[in-house]
Amino acid sequence: MTKGGDVPEIIPIHLFSQGILMPYTVLPLTVTDPDMIEMIDHAVSGDKIIGVVAESPAGTRYSVGTAAGIMKLYRFPGDVVRVTLKGLYRFRIIEDLEIDNVTSARVERLTTTYPDDTDELEAWRRSIELQLRKIMELTPGIPDELQLITLLRDPERLGYVAASGLESSVIRKQTFLEEDSIILRFRLLRSMMNYEIQRLKLREHIEGQVRMEMEQDQKEYYLKEKMKVIQKELGGGSVNPDVAELSDKLDVKELPETAATAAREELKRLSKLHPGSPEAGVARSYIEWILQLPWMDRSKDRLDITEAGRILDQDHYDLKDVKERVLEFLAVRKLNPKGKAPIICFVGPPGVGKTSMGRSIARALGRKFVRLSLGGVHDEAEIRGHRKTYIGAMPGRILQGLKEAGTSNPVFMLDEVDKIGRDFRGDPTSALLEVLDPEQNFSFRDNYLNTPFDLSFVKFITTANTLDTIPGPLRDRMEIIRIPGYTEDDKYQIAKRYLVKRQVTRTGLSGKLIRFKESGLRCIVKRYTREAGVRELERCIGAICRKHAVEVAGGSRTMVTVTESVVPDFLGSWKFTRETSLSEPSVGVATGLAWTSVGGEILMIETLLLPGNGKLILTGQLGDVMKESAQAALSWIRANRRDLKNDPAEFDIHIHVPAGATPKDGPSAGVAITASILSALSERPIQNLTAVTGEITLRGAVLPVGGVKEKVLGALAAGIQKILLPVENIRDLEDVPEAQRNAMEFVPISEIGQAIDHLIIWSD
Ligand SMILES: Nc1ncnc2c1ncn2[C@@H]1O[C@H](COP(=O)(O)OP(=O)(O)OP(=O)(O)O)[C@@H](O)[C@H]1O
Ligand SMILES: [Mg+2]
Repeated sequence: MTKGGDVPEIIPIHLFSQGILMPYTVLPLTVTDPDMIEMIDHAVSGDKIIGVVAESPAGTRYSVGTAAGIMKLYRFPGDVVRVTLKGLYRFRIIEDLEIDNVTSARVERLTTTYPDDTDELEAWRRSIELQLRKIMELTPGIPDELQLITLLRDPERLGYVAASGLESSVIRKQTFLEEDSIILRFRLLRSMMNYEIQRLKLREHIEGQVRMEMEQDQKEYYLKEKMKVIQKELGGGSVNPDVAELSDKLDVKELPETAATAAREELKRLSKLHPGSPEAGVARSYIEWILQLPWMDRSKDRLDITEAGRILDQDHYDLKDVKERVLEFLAVRKLNPKGKAPIICFVGPPGVGKTSMGRSIARALGRKFVRLSLGGVHDEAEIRGHRKTYIGAMPGRILQGLKEAGTSNPVFMLDEVDKIGRDFRGDPTSALLEVLDPEQNFSFRDNYLNTPFDLSFVKFITTANTLDTIPGPLRDRMEIIRIPGYTEDDKYQIAKRYLVKRQVTRTGLSGKLIRFKESGLRCIVKRYTREAGVRELERCIGAICRKHAVEVAGGSRTMVTVTESVVPDFLGSWKFTRETSLSEPSVGVATGLAWTSVGGEILMIETLLLPGNGKLILTGQLGDVMKESAQAALSWIRANRRDLKNDPAEFDIHIHVPAGATPKDGPSAGVAITASILSALSERPIQNLTAVTGEITLRGAVLPVGGVKEKVLGALAAGIQKILLPVENIRDLEDVPEAQRNAMEFVPISEIGQAIDHLIIWSD
């Protein structure tokens, strides 16, 4: 036999931390929490049912609860609502939902199973009734009305009402609630009642004993004695010793008002809990977190600008913009200590010193440094923490970082903001926005702490490899400082001044045992690394040092001088050879410029004519955009150059871009492809020391492209002397260091015809 009926599938859920509401019992509540009031209003406008689910001692939520009807509702001034809930039936949560901002769930009603044998049920009912009477006898001052419950005829109802009145643990009561079989439920109830009876008897016994032992008639003393005896009976030690210790610590810790109150409240709760209980553990670690966070601890800033500048120079070569910006910040800070500094974002390819610059800034300012990598952070809770009622909950990574720093004004680097994960697990961006917003972050709320923390003294610096994937609102909050890649010469300088020293010391060698010559370092830069930054370069230098260190450790005291010719002994044969310019002009080969994350290089574009009927064959791993560029180039030629030696309609045109295994894409090779095809069709050679970059349109216009600085540096390294550049890109040349800029000639172009005339050698 089962009981059931039509009930709403989706109901709002109230997490109840003070016990368990059983069906047939009534729960009066005074509500001031606005969220809860909203939930009640939501329920009142619907089925008038609220699901009440208990919180486990470990702080988690159970999945079985009691659906309660709203019986009475009074509103008082000042947003106070008093409701009376009545337990109706049990349910199990199937799916957590959020409806109109109200925590809700899809639920399934649970039914009670009865035995076939009605005599058995009646026997149980009586036994429960008897025990209930016994309990009542042992409980002094029980109201007469309550005695009536023994007269309840409905066994299910009797069970719930009785269980509800017992002082059993939440766990036992919840187990009772979750049991479907009425017989098993009665079994549980009987054991709970037995326990209650023993507890009541024990109390009587203790009371008697204490009364006998009591010497003085003092109330306080009586209570203390009583406590001791209780603890002795329970086999426990003394009163929770943590409470006193934590309280002492709180007394001396400097805390903002709100945090102090929160900690004190938790301490009060802790003092009432059994020291070994999981709940006590939760309360203790909460208070410990509050004690460990640097609420008011701030390091003093170094405001000496000259000294700060010296430190920045000590750590990094060049990077003038960045250093200037940091010194500006210092100057402003000195003049207006309360001002809000903008958040700086370093954008640049890997290994150019973004992270290490952050560290250096901290050193220059005399502040602590913490770093949080946002790469792969998917969940808002990682930033903001979990509510402390979750098992194993902790504050989010921001507060963890501050604890690690030990001050509330460190330089806090949020690395890789461009790699925050946003998916079904949630979006950490909104939490970050709050962290980084000077208007909000003085009262940052972490879910675990649940009391505001002032982040406004923290100097946040972010880093990214690209701006494209940073969510717009986040980007708007930041001041972007670009750190572009280094030139070969920069890399050599960095190696000479910084990396060698560092690696030599790290391997425990000294300048007497190893020396790096310019030719050696330049060879490593050129032949063993291909990167925008210097990370691989540093690794190579480190590898050489280590190899030599092994020899030294083996007894050899010889000094090694690292020159170009000995580098391969350490690092093996060359890893990279650059594409270099052709030694003489040739037909069908144009020099384009490419730009990758590791810098610029030249790109040979080769065209060959094969007997055929005007088909275009493209090879060399070209992307769609580049293929379309080639189509456009051919169309423009067919439409505009009818005077060519070879008619494009009589040939298949094969365009290849080596190296064939490296994928290439983008529209910027448009002009170069046009020149290459045209050269093949007209059988005229192309200038070998001139390179070109630029997108084309079908009307023959040349459009601007990206990565000009890198392309120029790449071209120079490959031996190019002249570059044809879209007119709009001419201003980008400002980014190219003067020495390199002066080493080349630049020609602005705005349409294809112009470019062709510079590239193709029409007459012999
Ligand atoms: N201008 C420079 N002067 C001295 N050392 C430098 C310079 N630029 C980079 N380095 C060194 O190069 C190494 C790599 O730098 P860092 O780790 O800061 O790179 P990053 O820009 O943060 O790269 P990623 O984007 O991969 O995180 C560090 O050891 C750093 O000290
Ligand atoms: Mg980094």
